[in-house]
Amino acid sequence: MSVDKKLSYFVDILTGLSWGDEGKGLAVVNLLKGVIGRTYVACVRYNGGCNAGHTTFIDGVKHVTHTIPTGILVPGVVSFIGRGVKFNFIKVAAEIRDLLEQGIEISRDRLVIDPATHLVLPTHILMDELKEEVSFGKAKIGTTKNGMSQIAVSKMGRRSVRIKDVLDQNGLLQAVMSEHLEMLGMLYPKQISSERFDKINNSYKEVMEAVEFVCQYVSFEEGYSFISRMLRKGDVLAEGAQGFLLDVDHGTYPYVTSSNSGVGAFLDGTGASWKMVRDVFGVAKMWYVTRVGNGPFPTELFPEVDGKYTNDHGLAYLIQNAGEGAEGGEKGATTQRPRRVGYVDLPMLRWAAERAGVTQLILTKGDRPNSNIGTSIDVCREYALNGGAWREYFPADIVTNMTRLQPLYESCEFVPVNPSLLFSDQPAAVKEHVARLASRVGAPVAFISAGHQAGQVVMVGNIPGNGSMLELGTHQSANGHSEI
Ligand code: IMP
Repeated sequence: MSVDKKLSYFVDILTGLSWGDEGKGLAVVNLLKGVIGRTYVACVRYNGGCNAGHTTFIDGVKHVTHTIPTGILVPGVVSFIGRGVKFNFIKVAAEIRDLLEQGIEISRDRLVIDPATHLVLPTHILMDELKEEVSFGKAKIGTTKNGMSQIAVSKMGRRSVRIKDVLDQNGLLQAVMSEHLEMLGMLYPKQISSERFDKINNSYKEVMEAVEFVCQYVSFEEGYSFISRMLRKGDVLAEGAQGFLLDVDHGTYPYVTSSNSGVGAFLDGTGASWKMVRDVFGVAKMWYVTRVGNGPFPTELFPEVDGKYTNDHGLAYLIQNAGEGAEGGEKGATTQRPRRVGYVDLPMLRWAAERAGVTQLILTKGDRPNSNIGTSIDVCREYALNGGAWREYFPADIVTNMTRLQPLYESCEFVPVNPSLLFSDQPAAVKEHVARLASRVGAPVAFISAGHQAGQVVMVGNIPGNGSMLELGTHQSANGHSEI
């Protein structure tokens, strides 16, 4: 099948602009439900694996998806898992069971998987855990312990098993897992207890049961063929996992995930052509940023040090705990770890949006934290590096530069977005902040999600500053210092 010279329909890619958890799941559901007037026939996952966690509330019911595209929650949409996704049969089987229990329809017509998708095995997960336990002087990453680093080693080392290999060759999985276990026994003799060894050795049966279970509900098709087929019927939405700053090449290495999470990953992770792409939606939380796991976070707020509130007078605590439990609080959807929180970082968002080629912004959690935090909130507008010149760009090597980096903040008025009001009727503080984000990030805002339920969105019209792209290098900093 070849790409039509003139496509009637296109792919839009949705990607996170920070370290994941930007609220992409809800944004995907809102787009699939037609908030911007486009009709999507398919939703495609192209990167990450079950380390991702997308939480969505539809009609009061909470759904958490990890590997299966969020599109499965929207009737009429076909979901596709591309070969860039790392596939764990045991975890996907559990996800399918949970979704079926919630009354979500899963069938071969609704869930399609690329047979060249690489498999995460129980031995990869054990290796991932051991790497964090025994770090040999290297930094601990704070991984989600889903085996991502080790499946990446297997894949790039050309020793990985793909779905089609398992379906074609009896006994292959057991042979590969035995080889992994033998190697682990040699590398980590003290850590591999007989209990741990037996547990993994016996998990082969569980994997094969999961293979059988999952195969009842899915069909297989190569990514390029699937996307071309769908684009004859309507638009396709590609749902990015993680965020741009977790990208292994462009993020805060080594505190990143073990694959690419930028928009390039869509092309490699599905086999689609760049000619099929129309818009890139960049997703960011409106009033603050979060991160789970270790690594640099320039605008981080520290809720407590030695039992006392610090620089933010409890703001981080309020953000972490805003709302009732998981409905509003900041806890990882996959690990339940409390997320680290910090002020909005304009240089970082600009940097990510430029590299991702964002054409439209989607702002999330506009109604959060809540008015308990008071009437103002800081925003980082630029940095000083090494006490020197101010700059509006995220430093290329943030890890080395972190201790020499000083964020410069400006205070802005904070009013939560009211989901019942049109954008034109929102308070001036909301409009100002949207204009600030749009002009500094360099893309218009499509909509704001304001509430954890699907449908609680405020569409944004044409506002001053919306979409006016800054010329590179011409920004005049607040204090008159020149750009570097
Ligand atoms: P890994 O991808 O499990 O190896 O974890 C590497 C880093 O990426 C850790 O800091 C994780 O917390 C982070 N990470 C991975 N996936 C996600 C995600 O979906 N949301 C937020 N952080 C993630």
